[in-house]
Amino acid sequence: MSYTAIIPVAGTGTRLKPHTYTYPKVLLTVGEKPILGHIIDKLIYYGIKEICFVTGYLCEKVVDYVNSNYGKKIKIKYVFQEEQKGLGHAIWLCKNEVKGPVLIILGDTIIEADIKNFLDHKSAKIGINEVKDPQRFGIVKIEKGVITDMVEKPQNPPTNLAISGIYSFPDSQKLFKALDWVVESGKTTRGEIQLTDAMKHMLDEGYKIKPIKIDGWYDCGKPETLLATNKYILSKKHKKYSFKNSVVIDPVYISKTAKIKNSIIGPYVSVGDNALIEDSIISDSIINEYATIKKSNLVSSLIGPSATVVGKMNKLNVGENSEVKFTDEE
Ligand code: UTP
Repeated sequence: MSYTAIIPVAGTGTRLKPHTYTYPKVLLTVGEKPILGHIIDKLIYYGIKEICFVTGYLCEKVVDYVNSNYGKKIKIKYVFQEEQKGLGHAIWLCKNEVKGPVLIILGDTIIEADIKNFLDHKSAKIGINEVKDPQRFGIVKIEKGVITDMVEKPQNPPTNLAISGIYSFPDSQKLFKALDWVVESGKTTRGEIQLTDAMKHMLDEGYKIKPIKIDGWYDCGKPETLLATNKYILSKKHKKYSFKNSVVIDPVYISKTAKIKNSIIGPYVSVGDNALIEDSIISDSIINEYATIKKSNLVSSLIGPSATVVGKMNKLNVGENSEVKFTDEE
């Protein structure tokens, strides 16, 4: 039986307001497509044929995107999480839909890893990575290559090895049983039903979970990390663009239907379909579809779909030895 993937995407993405007022976080663009598109394409590349999405906030937009882009490529199931009670709860809701081996991957994190290492049907595995701020993550302790303990967002972290958004279980029923235990016992950590608590219960029962060090882990949960992930994705692209009367500094992604006039674009800029950029200088930014930018100098900016930003040009008449500064910097 091949692995079914579960992608939880029910979250409200509060840290990415105002963009998440109208779009679920997982549909925000990085590079040339939504975060979720990058994740699904990767799973398809590694041979996943069935994905169960846990939807919630703005679920109709997720369903619309997934069905129209992937409806013919993979088998799709949806589970609805009415209230965001935590990752453990989101996965637990899939127990009637997923029977065999399961791969869980977060909907808002782009993972660089050889995913086939997670799909060997032999043992349960979780992706881990070293972090500087272990208090913010689920943390594991490892002895002789196996995980001996794990704890969610500890105040005194035993290590700096964080659980990194990818998990696989050759027998999903064992995981669902552990989640039943967490849900039925009413256990929460930091107010949420945690997947980490279910896995800790599995360890306590003698179940083995192996750590796999992943190569990279690109979170998209807040503006800075979304832009950093955009930068990472663009840095792998080598397409060259050229526009009359404009300068493009690689790497960038510019949709075929975008219009660029008299501007300097890049590096690390994504420009969506039918966006219009005129008389502007833009770097390290995401400009979504149908956005209009005129006479603006933008750095590290997120411009939502159909938004308009119009700056101004300055007309100066400045004499010798004068000093004019439009910045606080010295
Ligand atoms: P996060 O906690 O990072 O996402 O969950 P969030 O809640 O959308 O973001 P903030 O904290 O409000 O800014 C990581 C992933 O798990 C999903 C989220 O959708 C996201 O893809 N998730 C989390 C659920 O589907 N259900 C939950 O109850 C919790």
